[in-house]
Amino acid sequence: MKKTVTLTFSDGSPSIELPIEQGTYGKPVIDIRELGPHGYFTHDPGFTATSSCNSAITYIDGDEGLLYYRGYPIEELAYQSDYMEVCYLLNHGELPTAGQKMAFENSIRHHSLLHDQMENVFRGFRRSAHPMAVMIGVTGAMSAFYHEGTDLFDPRHREIVAHRLIAKIPTVAAWAYKFNEGQPFVYPQNHLSYAENFMHMMFSTPCEPYQPRPVLARALDRIFILHADHEQNASTSTVRLAGSSGANPYACVAAGMASLWGPLHGGANEAVLKMLDEMGDVSRIPEYIKRAKDKADTFRLMGFGHRVYKNMDPRARIIRQTCYEVLDELDLRDDPQFKIAMELERIALEDDYFISRKLYPNVDFYSGIIFRAMGIPPSMFTVMFALARTSGWVAQWNEMLSDPAHKIGRPRQLYTGATRREYVSLDQRRA
Ligand code: SDX
Repeated sequence: MKKTVTLTFSDGSPSIELPIEQGTYGKPVIDIRELGPHGYFTHDPGFTATSSCNSAITYIDGDEGLLYYRGYPIEELAYQSDYMEVCYLLNHGELPTAGQKMAFENSIRHHSLLHDQMENVFRGFRRSAHPMAVMIGVTGAMSAFYHEGTDLFDPRHREIVAHRLIAKIPTVAAWAYKFNEGQPFVYPQNHLSYAENFMHMMFSTPCEPYQPRPVLARALDRIFILHADHEQNASTSTVRLAGSSGANPYACVAAGMASLWGPLHGGANEAVLKMLDEMGDVSRIPEYIKRAKDKADTFRLMGFGHRVYKNMDPRARIIRQTCYEVLDELDLRDDPQFKIAMELERIALEDDYFISRKLYPNVDFYSGIIFRAMGIPPSMFTVMFALARTSGWVAQWNEMLSDPAHKIGRPRQLYTGATRREYVSLDQRRA
């Protein structure tokens, strides 16, 4: 017997019965599609309680602090899998066999080069351009190189789009850094792993040999896994909405990168480091906690809070552990920012303002400390997030277009503007 809910109206209007759907996990949803003909819309600015789609890719339990990719707990994937395998899992729905994994990695390796003319796109930017602006511009420009001949309704064409983006994004990210630094672009090396290749393109120069440190490459690979996907967050919803019109997927991913860049979203990792730098010392933590609570102050504790997690973000726990490993490897255990971050986390988690609002450290709280310890500048932190999230964006885009029932996204509104009025000619207008 299908579960339903009945809307009754205080003015005696006829009641409306709506179906309730239950997913594999999570809160059941009320299917409101029948409301329109009855003369009502629902209203939920910021989508605080609104499901936008069916998805089988990622599941988050915000109360329990759980995160599953295709049913696999993030903790098991972070410590037992690798990012290439997770990219395959997100995009294909199952863990690959050895043969499937080899074929996938081989395809990614052989799509890592950018079209030679793409160099000109980088050179159109000022050297001081923010790397996110460069990444967005270059990724969007890919739509000029890969447009004709892409049939979005052909699953093989969509798979090639996914492989191209997963493969090229590390090259775009590393070249954005090299362009900022005024160093020559370094080409991918197909014998290296995905994370090692990125480090090679970021840190090697033509002047001397470079060998990625295994502990750091492993840490980076794990951080890519943690950032790969996260249900219908702002940037993923942007990619889906842009893609729902059949738009060029490279342009849609560039739109997702633009949304991720915001300091309330993926830009938070860069904002956390700025905040820790500004604090400068654990003695100033109370001053910032006070500001974070002050409604008259726009300051928020960067790296804290989450729309879904009302418990510790499971990724933050793993990243904190990875932080210890990286700082130990680099003999930076006394890193001042790490000490401030640990003390800030301790104080905030004991403070009623944060406890009552269930504000916990999120994925962005510790990642910047690791990136900076590795020699990655704060301006590149969101680029790192976008690099990893590209695999999730293309998986979600593909899932949407694979659904024969998918429709163009077109939200409605509550109109609060002027009532109908006559035009007034310019000579009749008074200030
Ligand atoms: C990411 O969606 C995703 O899944 C995102 C992400 C992903 O993987 O894609 O997880 C990645 O974006 C993580 C979030 C990174 N952003 C930050 O760290 C920026 C700081 N945090 C926030 O601004 C905030 O917590 C949000 C944006 C993350 C969530 O905001 P919500 O859900 O809209 O919550 P809210 O603004 O309504 O806050 C509820 C209350 C408010 O106080 P009251 O009005 O109830 O008195 O909590 C307060 C807020 O003022 N609050 C904070 C706070 N975050 C919320 N107060 C101080 N510092 C903070 N960080």
